[in-house]
Amino acid sequence: MSDYSNRTLLAVEPEPTGKLMQQALANTDMELVLAWDAYDLNELLNKKTFGIAVVSSEVLDGSWTSIAHTVRNTPQTDAAKIVLVMEKGTGNEIDEADKSLIDKIMPAPFSIGGFVEIMSQFQAEKNEKQWATLNPNQQKLLRVTKSLFGKHFSPEGSDEALSKAVMKESGQAIAAATQSGEIWDILETLKSHDSYTFVHALKVSSFMTLFGVMLGLKEGDLQLLSQAGLFHDVGKRETPIDVLNFPGKLEAAAWKVMQEHPGISEQILADSFDVPSEIIHVAGRHHEKMDGSGYPRGLKGTEIDDLSAICAIADVYSGLTDKRSYKPPFTTEKTLAIMNSMSGGHLEPHFLEKFIAMIMDRESSGLKTA
Ligand SMILES: [Fe+2]
Ligand SMILES: [Fe+2]
Repeated sequence: MSDYSNRTLLAVEPEPTGKLMQQALANTDMELVLAWDAYDLNELLNKKTFGIAVVSSEVLDGSWTSIAHTVRNTPQTDAAKIVLVMEKGTGNEIDEADKSLIDKIMPAPFSIGGFVEIMSQFQAEKNEKQWATLNPNQQKLLRVTKSLFGKHFSPEGSDEALSKAVMKESGQAIAAATQSGEIWDILETLKSHDSYTFVHALKVSSFMTLFGVMLGLKEGDLQLLSQAGLFHDVGKRETPIDVLNFPGKLEAAAWKVMQEHPGISEQILADSFDVPSEIIHVAGRHHEKMDGSGYPRGLKGTEIDDLSAICAIADVYSGLTDKRSYKPPFTTEKTLAIMNSMSGGHLEPHFLEKFIAMIMDRESSGLKTA
């Protein structure tokens, strides 16, 4: 029996799906196998197993349902995830029996960003099964934060007004878990969770708060740090998925779109209930750099407030250590070396020194960092 931890993927009807999948997986240890039709698939099943099959509804020969049946009825692939790529892609046009064969429907035309998103969701489902090993407080924190993300950080939830109560609850939970040290178990558990929005925000929030604990800040300030970290990228819910999930360096036009997110985050927060101005500043300034080469305003040095400077550090740390379906995370050693090289130009040097000391302290105690 195979499952989706199998690092081989199958694409049925390789053009353009196969080519785009190749691009999306270029920097991973995943192998991609291509089949044109049901005949090819049968040949292949004698030689290979795979964890995920991406099948076009427009297969050249035979139907996608017969291909899905073949995958399901082959013992080596019966537990593989099946993704159907189809025009419109709502699933309403498929009858229930056929629908039960597949795990996800992806709207055609196939897009790299949409594909990366689906891979992330599969990985997330798998990771969330591990949450059961955490204590009830830790599980609650993850559930509350995840539901917050479902509502406010996805394009579907973009009309939802931010809820003060949920924002407060998650901020309090992260501050409490950080003070008690339980946050480290949570961060460890999330290591293999590949969700750009949810895990990234929780990591930035946790590291900002851990930094605040190290500085000896009080409860109220810690909650402010937690919330600022959690909401710093909320504007990314309006960034197109193909820009957000692009596996590599963005081209100029896409990079320009990406750079809009701090402004959108500020706007969303400013339009919500009485969100503290510090949180709005962090959302708008976390990509500013000490030497003025950041965005969106090109602020420099002391024009950047302390909270935003701390968020920039936690953001870079999280970005480098985040696992994405198209890249492995950097090791702590490599991450800290890169961050050291950013001291003064990009990141605030005094905070950075303390932040690095905090991470090294954790590492040298033999305990894991995220
Ligand atoms: Fe950001
Ligand atoms: Fe970020």
